[in-house]
Amino acid sequence: MAIPVIVDSTELAQTGADWIAGRARAAVASRGRFDVALAGGSTPRPIYEALAGLDLPWRQLHIFFSDERCVPLTHPDSNYRMARLALFGQVPIPAANIHPMTCTPGPYTAAARYAALLPTPLDLIVLGMGEDLHTASLFPGVDWSKPVGVAVVAIENAPKPPAERLTLTPDAIQAARELLVVVTGAGKAQQVALALTGPERPDRYPIHLARRATWLLDRAAAAQLEESSHA
Ligand code: 6PG
Repeated sequence: MAIPVIVDSTELAQTGADWIAGRARAAVASRGRFDVALAGGSTPRPIYEALAGLDLPWRQLHIFFSDERCVPLTHPDSNYRMARLALFGQVPIPAANIHPMTCTPGPYTAAARYAALLPTPLDLIVLGMGEDLHTASLFPGVDWSKPVGVAVVAIENAPKPPAERLTLTPDAIQAARELLVVVTGAGKAQQVALALTGPERPDRYPIHLARRATWLLDRAAAAQLEESSHA
């Protein structure tokens, strides 16, 4: 498991943006494109805003999503809307390269259609972590330790509203060339320690699916981890 990258909260956005930019430039140089699935929630937004300020081969970037809430793309809860305002509405990524997750005509049909257009493997999946150790929209209470056979599924009863979502599956996470997990804040310090230490239990802690990821943490989120590492 990689050593977490722990930075001051004031440096996290630029550190994350520079890390993603390095992967994007390398992928475009070697394969002519960079296929990235973006995390939703609030944590990654400053990273996306910093990324928009960099000089990247935007026309070769292809934007997918790690998960999405089943709301209109203009809804305040939409992960697409957050990423559009923070990133791709600010840079010249061709519209054809941006692939929103939508739940129309219905979540199950939409999940199958999104799986069909998703590159395998993705070059990078960006992920967050909830306080219940969920990631994307893979929540505890389901045994996510086994492949489900498809890259995208619909979730009907997410404990984090909105309840209806689409999400990448363990299969897509497992297949990705690289994973980046970003967690900030003292409120998740205990969960970060549980996520990164102890036996690997993705049947109980979905975030364990991303243990191999590069973890970008601010000092507050890493606090208990640092204590355990000094123990
Ligand atoms: C979502 C996200 C979800 C998020 C975590 C952390 O759609 O809700 O994909 O997995 O990454 O819940 O959310 P915050 O970054 O807002 O703490």
